[in-house]
Amino acid sequence: MALILGIESSCDETAAAIVDSDGDRLDTRIVAQRIASQDAAHRPYGGVVPEIAARAHAEILSPLIAQVLADAGLSLDAMDAIAATAGPGLIGGVMVGLVTGKALAMATGKPLLAINHLEGHALSPRLADPTLEFPYLLLLVSGGHCQLLEVGGVGQYRRLATTIDDALGEAFDKTAKILGLGYPGGPAVERLAREGDPRAVPLPRPLVGSGEPHFSFAGLKSAVMRAQLAGQHGKADLAASFQQAAIDCVIDRTRIALGAAGEVSALVVAGGVAANAALRRALATLAADHGLRLVAPPPVLCTDNAAMIGWAGVERWHMENGRVGDPLDLPARPRWPLDEQAAPVRGAGVKG
Ligand code: KG4
Ligand code: ZN
Repeated sequence: MALILGIESSCDETAAAIVDSDGDRLDTRIVAQRIASQDAAHRPYGGVVPEIAARAHAEILSPLIAQVLADAGLSLDAMDAIAATAGPGLIGGVMVGLVTGKALAMATGKPLLAINHLEGHALSPRLADPTLEFPYLLLLVSGGHCQLLEVGGVGQYRRLATTIDDALGEAFDKTAKILGLGYPGGPAVERLAREGDPRAVPLPRPLVGSGEPHFSFAGLKSAVMRAQLAGQHGKADLAASFQQAAIDCVIDRTRIALGAAGEVSALVVAGGVAANAALRRALATLAADHGLRLVAPPPVLCTDNAAMIGWAGVERWHMENGRVGDPLDLPARPRWPLDEQAAPVRGAGVKG
């Protein structure tokens, strides 16, 4: 019923995808998708350099969209709408994708859907598994965000918890840097952790036991740094012990949130860190303890991609019966919390 072109450029992945709302399997719902990673461009700096990212998006995006259309054997005219990430993220990159989306919408007369990148992550589990019903408890864990949200429907997000300092992906990336594992850090820490003993290094579990389900990872990261400098443990044991401590925190916090949320149909995990197999295993056990199933998209849909942006467009298309379309003068937003009503958390910075 709807064929939507998705565009993603909010961090260091340039991505385009065509999503078909009627596909009966994941590989027919995603008609075509391409993800151009900028890892190599940022690796020498040990992290994402916003200016390099924006320039790379500007170079790569248009040819990438042309390739995706060619892969699908479709023309732009076959699309029902153009969905582009409008925030939150690195503003230069977001502008590249949003302006491209606007230009394509204007040239073709198709509606523009300005998508919140976090909503893309939040709804991606329903792209992978359309039987997933609202409401669900969502653990959203990426490089920039670490939140627990009650997802009541499209556009209905109640934030139950957020991080008061680092995001979980950020903690993995910083640990990788401390251990000299390079960039991007999360997958490298996970690989090395498989060879280490998760009980070898005593590390703190910040906020575990507190009644509110918020997160904190700064103290854990500093403890990894001190343990590394002390030189008594090997890198694999440090990686494994860090990963175990981080997972223990996430499981304890999610357990509290399950108690605070209303009745939910499932426990859902999304965002880049949801690609971590050890985290998924621990969450599956927690979900089972609560009589729930764990829904986790395949890893390629956990890290940044455009299929989730196209899918968020599909969800909005269905909710509004195709009468969609955002104004073409809509600005890109560097910050754009999913729950705009959520109160700031004591001790937290200004992260959305
Ligand atoms: O969602 P994402 O691709 O980008 C953001 O919107 O932030 O998430 C990227 C984050 C990075 O911090 C990366 O290190 C982390 O997800 N990540 C992982 C794994 N794969 C990606 N962290 C732990 N284990 C992994 N396997
Ligand atoms: Zn993301």
